[in-house]
Amino acid sequence: MQEHQKRKAAKDFFDEVEKHRAENLGLGEFFRRSPQHHLGTPVFLAPTTVHYSVDKAMKLVGLGENNLVTIDVDENLHLDMEDLKKQFHTLNSNKRPVIGVIGVLGTTEFGVVDPIDQIVEFRKELRKENQDFYLHVDAAWGGYLAAIFRKKDGTWSRDSSQIRQGGMFGDFPSEKQFQAYYAVREADSVTVDPHKLGYLPYGSGAFVARNRETARFMRQDAPYVWGSDSGKRSQGTKEKLTDAVLKSTHGQYVIEGSRPGANSAGVYVTHKLLPLHREGFGTIVGRTLKVTKVFSEKIQALKEYLEKEKIARVCVPVKPETNILCYVANPYTNKDIDMLNKFTELVFEDLTNDPTRPLQTFNFMVSSTTLPLKILPLQSQNRVLTELGLARKRGTAHSDLSLTVLRHTLMNPWLGEVIDEQYFYLEEYLKYMKSLFKQTIRKSKLKQKKTREQEENRE
Ligand SMILES: Cc1ncc(COP(=O)(O)O)c(C=O)c1O
Repeated sequence: MQEHQKRKAAKDFFDEVEKHRAENLGLGEFFRRSPQHHLGTPVFLAPTTVHYSVDKAMKLVGLGENNLVTIDVDENLHLDMEDLKKQFHTLNSNKRPVIGVIGVLGTTEFGVVDPIDQIVEFRKELRKENQDFYLHVDAAWGGYLAAIFRKKDGTWSRDSSQIRQGGMFGDFPSEKQFQAYYAVREADSVTVDPHKLGYLPYGSGAFVARNRETARFMRQDAPYVWGSDSGKRSQGTKEKLTDAVLKSTHGQYVIEGSRPGANSAGVYVTHKLLPLHREGFGTIVGRTLKVTKVFSEKIQALKEYLEKEKIARVCVPVKPETNILCYVANPYTNKDIDMLNKFTELVFEDLTNDPTRPLQTFNFMVSSTTLPLKILPLQSQNRVLTELGLARKRGTAHSDLSLTVLRHTLMNPWLGEVIDEQYFYLEEYLKYMKSLFKQTIRKSKLKQKKTREQEENRE
């Protein structure tokens, strides 16, 4: 086909699609037009660990938050392929169209990498039977770690053991993680946040589509702002697309119309200076993985100390895969999960932002999150409770319990260094936490005693 014929065919295709899009017709009209198909409400599928912004997106596009169907995860919080397949086929036989599947490349709370390669395999199988789904990868957190796989010439190593050699990146990547990252190229779209592991200013989010033409479907024209033909130029050749990109602004493609381009400029300049390959950005993010490995060893040492001294029991509920580590310590004699959560909140008070306290007085700052036990398989729920010495709660199923955990996002590549031959942050953290746990146990015992006395006095 000649170039101009290809261009015309592409234009005709897009014009035809435009006529039938739910975004233009509204979902009501969309379904009214095809009653013969008796279609149920369409859904997206995503693991239970998916970021809340996906719920928000479901609301925004009018698909409805309830139509984000969640898929179970395994003991280390990876999307469970068996459940994905089961749910896909069930929805299909109930005539509920599965528009897309979302896999997460580094979950927000635990940094876990979903098996993107297996989702891609599943889609290949479906395609043989003329079935399909859109695949979106949420790499907001973990996307930047791809820099360690990319060589300077832009190609990828295919041998994950080579990357692991010498332990430069701690235990990263396992073969499974490597395959997941390698398969991202098969996704239809990916989100990446330069303001996370790209260390760039807040608000630098990116949506990357496999086919640049996808952006056409998100475009909103407004002649007085963007010129009458800026977006329309993206209908044809590469040259014209570039032209359109240069003439357009983000506002045409994202939710906020009035949006500055400063963040994008920052991302552009940064990656010109520090390209996204293993000798550029990879050296920075790679070090954070090594730091996480050393930090895991420190947490193991903390656990051994607190348990030997019968001060507390420690559990790392999810094995760290990238550079986020969460753990929890339960005072040795406590068996009650609510008491444990209160205790963790007390510990957390010392480690979190407090506007009344000068920043300089903080030794360490961490975040916290809650792990609803129900998202774990039953066996893992039992493991976590046993490791923490928690008793089953009468009248409450495990699945209704949530555990507050201390969350450590290890983004600082220098955390693993010894400063002035004596100050090693991770070792200092270990010392600090040993004493913080002891102090907090004392504080909470005093608090309990006071409450008991007050109650007795009232009686
Ligand atoms: C995994 C993941 N996805 C998506 C997002 C994007 O969130 P927002 O809508 O706040 O930019 C985040 C941000 O924390 C995230 O961690």
